[in-house]
Order: sequence, then structure tokens, then C-alpha cells
Amino acid sequence: MFDFDFLKKKKKTTAFSVEDNRKTLHKNLEFTATEQYKLLRTNLDFTLPQGEKCPVIGVTSSMRGEGKSVTAINLSYVLAEKGNKVLLIDCDLRIPSVAKKMEMHSTPGLTDLLMGKTAAISEFQTKILKNWYIIPSGSIPPNPSELLGSSRMETVLEELKEAFSYIVLDLPPVNAVSDALSVSHLITGMIVVVRENYSEKKELESCLRQLRLSNVHVLGCVMNDAKSGGGLYGKYKKYKYYKEYHRTSSDEEKEESEN
Ligand SMILES: Nc1ncnc2c1ncn2[C@@H]1O[C@H](COP(=O)(O)OP(=O)(O)OP(=O)(O)O)[C@@H](O)[C@H]1O
Ligand SMILES: [Mg+2]
Repeated sequence: MFDFDFLKKKKKTTAFSVEDNRKTLHKNLEFTATEQYKLLRTNLDFTLPQGEKCPVIGVTSSMRGEGKSVTAINLSYVLAEKGNKVLLIDCDLRIPSVAKKMEMHSTPGLTDLLMGKTAAISEFQTKILKNWYIIPSGSIPPNPSELLGSSRMETVLEELKEAFSYIVLDLPPVNAVSDALSVSHLITGMIVVVRENYSEKKELESCLRQLRLSNVHVLGCVMNDAKSGGGLYGKYKKYKYYKEYHRTSSDEEKEESEN
């Protein structure tokens, strides 16, 4: 199992400058950061089940602000850059941010698609680049968790899988709301974002436990904003992707005795 002792016990408040925000997105990423996202893309090839036509990859974390949306945007971009037809869906229906980050309209989006009956799915997709499409969150609904776990969501995803090579879901944090767990039966696997000097060890452990209890296949953890290693490219130097979250039998026994 990974040793998460490097994580702070208490969350450090991190203020980000406009410059930091600008640098976190695909088009402004520094060379080394882009390389790390490409490495993440490569590692996904090894962790995703072979032969699945259109894997659905969820991106979540334990708490707010750890870099889920940035990771989902940049991952979907590097997947599309390789020639795959990729769809990013903003499934954070409470505090959506993909549309804002990508400077596009947030409606119509996923909620409108899930609640509407007649319009074609293609009307809700925005083409960003040749192979890269985004469905924004849409209007804020009263029941995000139910919508995400609905049979309509399942039907919509099945239809979308016919048209894309990868679907990436930007999800809310696991420990805050149940929304991320509502899609557990609809996704191929989950990426968990961890932020150095920000994520809390206990929160992360609780998040991973909940994912396991919901039978989610955790593809790995993305280490965001890691300072260790320093070097020319500063905080981007250490975007890391861990191939698997290993658990030992003693961990399992301990968890079972706790439950
Ligand atoms: N590696 C990084 N370096 C600098 N700024 C970053 C980094 N990663 C994320 N940020 C900034 O941190 C803020 C939170 O990032 P992001 O919106 O991706 O997090 P999130 O986990 O999706 O948050 P939420 O839980 O609210 O949806 C954003 O302003 C983003 O630009
Ligand atoms: Mg987000």
C-alpha cells in the first residue's frame, strides 16, 4: 500500500494566483507538465481493461480543490491529441467549473440532456478541437446525485460510447457528496487526485475506502502540485501517476474489523 504519510494532517489553505490558474490548463502547460500528462495517458493504457471499446474514466478526489477539474481537462486533451475521439463531461453538478475554465457556456449541458426528452445528444456537445468534445454541467439541478445515478444517465452514456473512444467524467469529491459514488456502476475506473501539502491523509483513506466499498476500480492516484523534486519546472515537475493503489491483506483485515 502507498504510504500517505507525506500528506498534511491538516489542510493548508492554498491561494492561487491568476498566473497559476493560467498555467494549469492544456494550452498553457509547460513542457514538463505536458509530458507528465502524456505519461498518465500511457499508464492508463496499462491499467484500463484491454479491449474495452470506450472506457469511461472518472476523476475524483477526497476533498474540494485538489485539482480534479484541471486533471480531467488536461487528461482528456492529451488523449484527444493522440488521435482518439474524446468527450469530457462536467459531472460536478453542484459547483461546476469546466465551462468557466474552458471559457464556454455552461448551458445547455448534462442536466438539460438528462432531464430533456427530445433533443439529440449532439446538441449538448461543444467541439473544442478536432477530436475533443465537452458536455458542460448545464443548469444546476435540485437532485445531482439521483440524476447522475439514473437509468437515463446510463442510457446516455451507452449512446455516447458508440461515438467516442474515451469518456472522461469530472466528478465532485467523494467525501463531500455522494455524487461520485452514484456513477460507480457506470464507469470503467476512477482516477483519484491527491494534492501535496493540501490533501489530508485521513480524508484520502476515507475516500479510497468508500470507493472500494462501492466496487470502484481505482486506476491510480495523480499526485498534483507536488513540490518535492523541485527543478526547472517547479510544481509541475512531479505530476505523478501511480499505476495502482496496492492494498495488503493486513489493510483489508484492519478495515473489515473497523466496519
Ligand atoms: N498544479 C497546480 N498548480 C497551480 N494551481 C493549480 C494546480 N492544480 C490546480 N490548481 C488550481 O487550483 C484550483 C482548484 O483546481 P481544480 O478546480 O482543478 O480543483 P477541483 O478539485 O476540481 O476543485 P473542486 O473540488 O472545487 O471541483 C484552480 O484554481 C486551479 O487552477
Ligand atoms: Mg472541479
